Amino acid sequence: MPAWGVLVLLWATVEATKDCPEACTCQHLETMGLRVDCRGRGLTELPDLPAHTRQLLLTNNSLRSVPPGAFDHLPQLQTLEVEQNPWHCDCGLTYLRLWLQDRMPEALWLMHCASPNPAANLPLHNLTGFQLGNCGWQLQTSWPAVPVLAWLCCALLCTTEAKA
Ligand SMILES: *[C@@H]1O[C@H](CO)[C@@H](O)[C@H](O)[C@H]1NC(C)=O
Ligand SMILES: *[C@@H]1O[C@H](CO)[C@@H](O)[C@H](O)[C@H]1NC(C)=O
Repeated sequence: MPAWGVLVLLWATVEATKDCPEACTCQHLETMGLRVDCRGRGLTELPDLPAHTRQLLLTNNSLRSVPPGAFDHLPQLQTLEVEQNPWHCDCGLTYLRLWLQDRMPEALWLMHCASPNPAANLPLHNLTGFQLGNCGWQLQTSWPAVPVLAWLCCALLCTTEAKA
């Protein structure tokens, strides 16, 4: 192997391990991005993931939920393995469900719920958004509420903008 080849390899290895979560192993993909392998580590929550994560393997852990927005800072994320976790399929799982539905809907068949009771043993695919529950909010249908909602959204956006 030429010297530059060794250097590139070394660089890739250093880059791959730099931001790697402690519980996982990371590997550079030829297609750019990282493969982050966290299988079978007894994880109960998501580790801090490197921004260039492309493949994330979470199979065989003790994950029950994923916080809303958990993958928003991972624009390259394409593949998610979520099987063999005790997923708690209530409204808290809506973010993960929508993420999978948009990017890899076939995973919804493989992701089995462990709880709560009516959902237990069902693939996430078999639960509608309604069955997941609404976390206490209601879809607003009455017209007078629209300007109020628009105002709220606007206010929220402005605060986020100001913070950023
Ligand atoms: C799942 O992970 C545990 C460690 O948490 C390991 O002992 C077990 O062999 C793994 N099972 C499979 C099917 O990979
Ligand atoms: C899940 O839904 C499919 C149809 O979408 C159905 O064929 C299957 O039996 C259901 N599975 C369970 C465990 O209810």
